Amino acid sequence: MKRMLSGIKPTGQLTLGNYIGAIKQFISYQEEYEMFIFIADLHALTLPIDAKELRKNTRDLISVYLACGLDPDKVVLFKQSDVHEHAELGYIMACNSYMGELSRMTQYKDKTSKISDHGSIPTGIFIYPALMAADILLYDANYIPVGIDQKQHVELTRDLAIRFNNHYSETFIVPEPITPKTGAKVASLSNPEKKMSKSESEKGTIYLLEDLNITRKKIMSSVTDCDNEIKYDTEHKPGISNLLTILSSLTGKSIESLVENYQNVGYGTFKKDVADAVCKELGELQAKVLEIQSSNKIEEILEEGAKKASYYARKKLSKVYRKVGLN
Ligand code: ADP
Ligand code: TRP
Repeated sequence: MKRMLSGIKPTGQLTLGNYIGAIKQFISYQEEYEMFIFIADLHALTLPIDAKELRKNTRDLISVYLACGLDPDKVVLFKQSDVHEHAELGYIMACNSYMGELSRMTQYKDKTSKISDHGSIPTGIFIYPALMAADILLYDANYIPVGIDQKQHVELTRDLAIRFNNHYSETFIVPEPITPKTGAKVASLSNPEKKMSKSESEKGTIYLLEDLNITRKKIMSSVTDCDNEIKYDTEHKPGISNLLTILSSLTGKSIESLVENYQNVGYGTFKKDVADAVCKELGELQAKVLEIQSSNKIEEILEEGAKKASYYARKKLSKVYRKVGLN
């Protein structure tokens, strides 16, 4: 069975973009692959974050993973910081990467362009892709399901794996990124030229655990053009195309069939259907999250997951230590 691995950082509240671009994919693959899904909490430290908030986000993220249907009997579900080999291989990967390639990462450029005016750039955000490479390479993962914004980091991981294999002999599997056919990039509702993100505007972002009356309002007042025609055209109609993407990935209906159904229907009716679909899905999700958080299963599941993950990580790291001459 081929192996698949992915993770999400517990920074900020989870969004509909995370759900459609990442989590929904994980669920659909868990029967087909040997899956490793983790909470990338070390990555959450790359930009300043309050300890209390990090703890809360971590708990929310594991609850959402479980509420969405990730099954701990089928998937190795764990927290990155519980498996110390991530940080150790991350250091070795940093030693094998170049400043030039790291500074070309789009996410690094985006995130630092926002902070450079009024502060120093933390080193963690710069070497982040080396840690991400370690996350992947420790487990011999073949496929990495991610949203489009993370594809470049997986490509860098491939380069680092190939470089290491060439230098020290075959050690790592070279992984491939997998992006969803629909929903690889869910856009902001208030600024559909931009990605919906934890760190973007409140108005444009749907949070998975927010009050659904607010969700409905955000969708009904989302930015669209004014020609009142429902058509998929990301260049000229980014707002409507984004709503079509959302509706398609939640209902499983193709964009073409949705466009056909909504011929001669006004934007108001269309938006209401999108809001109904989103609120239904999130309502069910939120109920399950509450149930999980009031049980005391979370600690047990993470402990079990860390044990399983450590088994693989330990073996791989000791192989790497041997090759580089550390033992
Ligand atoms: P954010 O950009 O919201 O901080 P992360 O970088 O933590 O989110 O992303 C976690 C996962 O969710 C990644 O696989 C990422 O590609 C995916 N993802 C995040 N936002 C979106 C979006 N708007 N559309 C599709 N996928 C997304
Ligand atoms: N960098 C990813 C993000 O910001 C999270 C992540 C960390 C990840 N390590 C990973 C994703 C390994 C896939 C594989 O969303």
